[in-house]
Amino acid sequence: MNEEQRLASAQVNQPKPSNNKTEKDYSKYFEKVFTAPSLKDAKKRGKEEVKYHKDFAVDEQFLKMGEGRKFYIRTYGCQMNEHDTEVMAGIFMQLGYEPTEEIEKADVVLLNTCAIRENAENKVFGELGFLVKYKRKNPEMIIGVCGCMSQEESVVNKILKKYPHVDMIFGTHNIHRLPNILKEAYMSKEMVIEVWSKEGDVIENLPKQRLGSIKAWVNIMYGCDKFCTYCIVPYTRGKERSRRPEEIIAEVRELAAQGYQEIMLLGQNVNAYGKDFTDIEYRLGDLMDELSKIDIPRIRFTTSHPRDFDDHLIKVLAKGGNLLEHIHLPVQSGSNEVLKIMARKYTREHFLDLVARIKAAIPDVALTTDIIVGYPNETEEQFQETLDLYRKVGFEMAFTYIYSPREGTPAAKMVDNVPEDVKKERLHRLNAVVGEYSKAALKKLEGEVVEVLVEGSSKKRDDVLAGYTRKNKLVNFEGPVELVGEIVKVKVLEAKSYSLRGEFLEIVKR
Ligand code: SAH
Ligand code: SF4
Ligand code: F3S
Repeated sequence: MNEEQRLASAQVNQPKPSNNKTEKDYSKYFEKVFTAPSLKDAKKRGKEEVKYHKDFAVDEQFLKMGEGRKFYIRTYGCQMNEHDTEVMAGIFMQLGYEPTEEIEKADVVLLNTCAIRENAENKVFGELGFLVKYKRKNPEMIIGVCGCMSQEESVVNKILKKYPHVDMIFGTHNIHRLPNILKEAYMSKEMVIEVWSKEGDVIENLPKQRLGSIKAWVNIMYGCDKFCTYCIVPYTRGKERSRRPEEIIAEVRELAAQGYQEIMLLGQNVNAYGKDFTDIEYRLGDLMDELSKIDIPRIRFTTSHPRDFDDHLIKVLAKGGNLLEHIHLPVQSGSNEVLKIMARKYTREHFLDLVARIKAAIPDVALTTDIIVGYPNETEEQFQETLDLYRKVGFEMAFTYIYSPREGTPAAKMVDNVPEDVKKERLHRLNAVVGEYSKAALKKLEGEVVEVLVEGSSKKRDDVLAGYTRKNKLVNFEGPVELVGEIVKVKVLEAKSYSLRGEFLEIVKR
């Protein structure tokens, strides 16, 4: 299918259902005209090569669209989504719109949504309900929904039924089409829906309005092919596509020249970087090696998948320098049976072996993780294995979640015998262990001198500064506001529950 045909098939101008229709009327209506999005299509992984589009430019016809108008974007979810917001903000600015922090002043309000757990989605539906009152005050306001939720047909159905004040819905693969979709939304009386379910392309040269001037996000790959049985991401973000190394290197160089101090490389599964290249043998280790030569103080990456974490990467990271000794390595569970039904494709032993190899090469490494408790039919013993693994690794921090069924994923069909209160209680016990270990990791730093990238000052007091160490520990200390943006040495005086209190020593000379 070429671009034109795909557009024709995907762009559906849905008539807004009027409020006096019955459920029955709706179902008929959906059968007839509802063609996109489709989780079923999103699941397909074709062999076709990734196409690179280097020539993104806003079409001239759109350039004045935003004159005298303001936009507001609310972002939910992961850093990838935050970075997408920067791209959309960049496009809005090219169209002549101005940003605003106040919804009531906005001409366009966008919710950039996350579908990872039910509560993430509920927040968005809550906000959508809330937006009605703004729309009543200003009927000209365009309300849009984008991000991962828009890739789910159940969500789009619900919006059509219950939130007719929404003017446009577009998917994660349609961001570069924002000018066209906006124009359509201004002209059409109907809800504009443009969600491509299947996408294999990488689009370069997208404008970005970065939120900060100290730290920057850089995508290195898009999508995920892992299909962990609980996870919606492979459906909402499409197949794995790596950006070409030269594009990434050029972007990091430019950010370094602009004075950025820290780069966070982004991908759902960065260790799969380069797997999709057919012409070159080039993986994350190679990329990190080249990036380590760029004159920028700090480079991090997220998220790692334990399965593709290879020895070459470990060797490169062990060189240190601007490659930081902090690795976020989601394990999800410590039980082999649970890992198996999660389709994580590694065992507890494999994970512990990987951790041992990382620690041998980088003795000072800080490891952090993600864990899901209460997977369908998880037993107390299996949960105990997770606690045991946590202790064996000695993770310094973790994001912990109760399993949330996601429609369309294999796990959502599993019969689950674990009661909700048991899940909550497990989360509680796990969090106690997480707290214990993170406190211990902070305590270990008392009396030490750490390097802190100063990110800002306290809202109440200009001279109370905050920043993060190389291992991502939050440090507060007193010092002149001019230190914001600098990397400084701080002596740690005291470990608090989630942060350190320190004393400023000196600026690190580079
Ligand atoms: N690509 C990353 C994870 C992205 S999602 C990785 O594989 O590590 C971030 C985290 O959300 C996951 O690591 C997992 O712990 C959690 N998560 C994903 N789907 C979930 C679900 N259905 N219920 C609860 N937590 C989930
Ligand atoms: Fe989801 Fe698994 Fe992919 Fe991470 S690796 S995004 S958890 S499917
Ligand atoms: Fe959420 Fe999508 Fe990120 S589901 S976690 S916003 S990739």
